[in-house]
Amino acid sequence: MPGSGGDAAGGWALINLSSPRREGTRLRESGGWIASFRRAVYRPDVLITRIPLEDELGDVLDKALRHAGLTEGAAAARAGVDPTKLRDAIDYRYDLTAAELRRLATVLRLNEVGFCALAQDQYPRPEIGALPFCVWPLRMAHGIGVVNAYLVGECGGSRGFLFDVGPSLEALLEVWPGSVTGVDAAFLTHVEAEHTGGLCRAVERFGVESAFVPTGAQAPCGCAMGEGETKAIGAYEITAFSTPGHSAQHNCYLVRAPAARGSCPLLISGDLIFAGSAGGGYFCQRQLRTHLRRVLEAVPPNTVIAPGHGPLPTVENELRFNPFIV
Ligand SMILES: [Fe+2]
Repeated sequence: MPGSGGDAAGGWALINLSSPRREGTRLRESGGWIASFRRAVYRPDVLITRIPLEDELGDVLDKALRHAGLTEGAAAARAGVDPTKLRDAIDYRYDLTAAELRRLATVLRLNEVGFCALAQDQYPRPEIGALPFCVWPLRMAHGIGVVNAYLVGECGGSRGFLFDVGPSLEALLEVWPGSVTGVDAAFLTHVEAEHTGGLCRAVERFGVESAFVPTGAQAPCGCAMGEGETKAIGAYEITAFSTPGHSAQHNCYLVRAPAARGSCPLLISGDLIFAGSAGGGYFCQRQLRTHLRRVLEAVPPNTVIAPGHGPLPTVENELRFNPFIV
């Protein structure tokens, strides 16, 4: 769930790229942590370190009960599980058998393979393909959790695009890569303090010309961007999907560099989907599930997902294993 899971100092990821970087290149991570390519899983076109999943089994069970509209007692009875064991699992004390997990997956309409893998702490983590640009995940502490914003730009360049801005300008500056001095445009997935608290000051600080927010969202420094709208800026195309569910106004953004044929697109997913889980459906559970499948089926399978919390999976992986996709 938002606010749980991640570890600000324990993980970092930068993904490249059209041109491989040399091992040993040093980059700054959230909280002032310095990572180098030597510490990362490295392939010529991929660099990503492992960070914890945002949600564990207890979080997924809690969300799944709400998605299914069932009480703990009702779900336990239907699945033939001791309600105390289900309660304990939601509180992160796990004693469910494999058979009980499978029955719960059926009752809660979850992807059984992904759900059971999550329960065994073996949720599949995909390899990431080559992106035609650099992505800086900007991981910021907020409350007891960690929230992600993303900076996207040409590797070695001094300007980029910002997706979400984190809870404050101060938090953003702590994790900001020093090589990037300007922002051409900002795109917000949804207006919520942990993701967009620093918006107006970030707009001022980086001279952002346009900050796009989901149509209908109340953001003083933003202008509306709705379903299917595409902004073509330089070599980039950024297309919005309207994905209400977590909140009434929520966008995902597909980022492409059309000239880089064969490269992976990037999906900025906000709090629609996480690796191995989904955002809380605080506005509408049903709409969240509908848009989750709709968006993942609308983009190429090799699309890299950049969520508002946790690590970066791929569309193909989540279509196969995400507990909330059946
Ligand atoms: Fe969030």
